[in-house]
Amino acid sequence: QREKPLQGKKVVITGGPTQEAIDPVRYITNHSSGKMGHALAVAAKRLGASVTYIHGPINLPAVYGADDVAITSAQELFTAVKDTYADADFIIMAAAVGDYRCSSIAAEKIKKNDAVLTLELTKNPDILAWLGEHVSAKCVLCGFAMETQDLLAHATDKFKKKHCDLLVANSLKTSGAGFQCDTNIVTIISETQSEELPIMDKSALAYEIWERLIALHHKK
Ligand code: C5P
Repeated sequence: QREKPLQGKKVVITGGPTQEAIDPVRYITNHSSGKMGHALAVAAKRLGASVTYIHGPINLPAVYGADDVAITSAQELFTAVKDTYADADFIIMAAAVGDYRCSSIAAEKIKKNDAVLTLELTKNPDILAWLGEHVSAKCVLCGFAMETQDLLAHATDKFKKKHCDLLVANSLKTSGAGFQCDTNIVTIISETQSEELPIMDKSALAYEIWERLIALHHKK
């Protein structure tokens, strides 16, 4: 029990970027490597959970023993989350979900000419906010926030607006934190505190996050 505190628990984790098609050749995406979500999924397996790992296009080995769901766009991610969230004990939204998609996807490659090209973008659904309103009372919901300024203020605001139990905030402006790298520097926000952790490996951070999520689960 001490070594496998997630035995019998169902965990859904999202990670990596999304891609929003412009035409058959091009897309809009972000710099997410998927490493944080991957580390959380590996840790959850080690702690005994049954894990569904939903991820965008990433270049990482499969998580041994996890249900692997590969998606491309934010809307596909939303569908995959809706298919799996209902009986989850924990949901972690570590994916860097695209906030916008192209209002229409060109059927053929857009040819260049000398005029300015304008793309019209439509807002994607906010999946974390949707989960905040739909998850069962026993489910522990964790979000991430990546900011370039006023990290704590924005992250605290998100924590409240999205109705999650824990929000992990990282600043893109801190070296050793955020996209692509193997380490992260985060502030963990909950109802009762905001806790600044030292720089650590994403894998070690995953266990720190799990420790706090498990404690929150015990309180539910
Ligand atoms: O509001 P913002 O996108 O910065 O919030 C970040 C958190 O929200 C992350 O946990 C991310 O996975 C989630 N998110 C989402 N759906 C979106 C955008 C972000 O679930 N469309």
